Amino acid sequence: MKEEDPLASEQGGNALKAVILAGGTGTRLKPLTFWTNKHLLPVGAYPMICYGVAKLREAGIRDIVIVTGRSALGGFADVLGSGRDWGVSLLYRVQEEAGGIAQALGLARPVIEPREKFAVLLGDNLFEESLLPFRERFERQPEGAMVLLKKVEDPRRYGVPVLLPEDGRIARIEEKPEQPPSDFCVTGLYFYDGGVFDVIDKIIPSQRGEMEITDVNNEYARRGTLAYAEVQGWWTDAGTFESLETAGKKLKGFLP
Ligand code: DAU
Repeated sequence: MKEEDPLASEQGGNALKAVILAGGTGTRLKPLTFWTNKHLLPVGAYPMICYGVAKLREAGIRDIVIVTGRSALGGFADVLGSGRDWGVSLLYRVQEEAGGIAQALGLARPVIEPREKFAVLLGDNLFEESLLPFRERFERQPEGAMVLLKKVEDPRRYGVPVLLPEDGRIARIEEKPEQPPSDFCVTGLYFYDGGVFDVIDKIIPSQRGEMEITDVNNEYARRGTLAYAEVQGWWTDAGTFESLETAGKKLKGFLP
């Protein structure tokens, strides 16, 4: 009998996979995150992670890798299991220490083929609109990476891009700048080619001791291959008490 490859795509070789990053310490949500992982906290009637899974499924993505911390793993398995009830196939990777978003992403390397394009979603990012058009746009992009931008009132708590609107590219991103160079924030949905893991290999931790996703994106920007698209519907993260409350209101009564 042929042995099943647990890493084989449920949809076959060409289907786009996604990675949801759901590790970290949830510092800004303490004391709630003393006893559970941020992405298992309730937003509306469901744990936060369910919305990310459902959004990717809506975009036709069925093979999903969830990266989370050791102590939270059981909670994710309780909520999502194999993914069967959500119409997806899940694999889990464990981030032993919260070493930053780029470090968490690096853990997906064994699941992505060297030349394979894929999507990355920060587990605390919630989007109103379908992500399908963005996925299709990136699949047409010959190389590099693509990020989604949203105009926000106070960009200072996000990654903020310097745009080159004439050719749809980003010149550079500043992480949490005191003087934002634009009104846009870089949301937590990224698309990469398989070369991203070689970029991550060269990232050194920032002053706060984390491997920053903005450093990864800036390498693509330096090469001239960081494209962007603008989100039209509402978008919010849910990593602070204020934004968690906003997310809860927006998704009240919504079934993912
Ligand atoms: O929400 C969008 C913003 O997310 C971007 O504008 C910023 O450029 C980007 O750096 C990020 O900023 P945050 O400070 O909000 O990231 P945070 O530390 O909250 O992490 C976001 C998600 O990444 C979180 O839901 C869990 C995951 N994560 C984070 C860390 C630090 C991990 O899986 N492992 C980690 O070690």
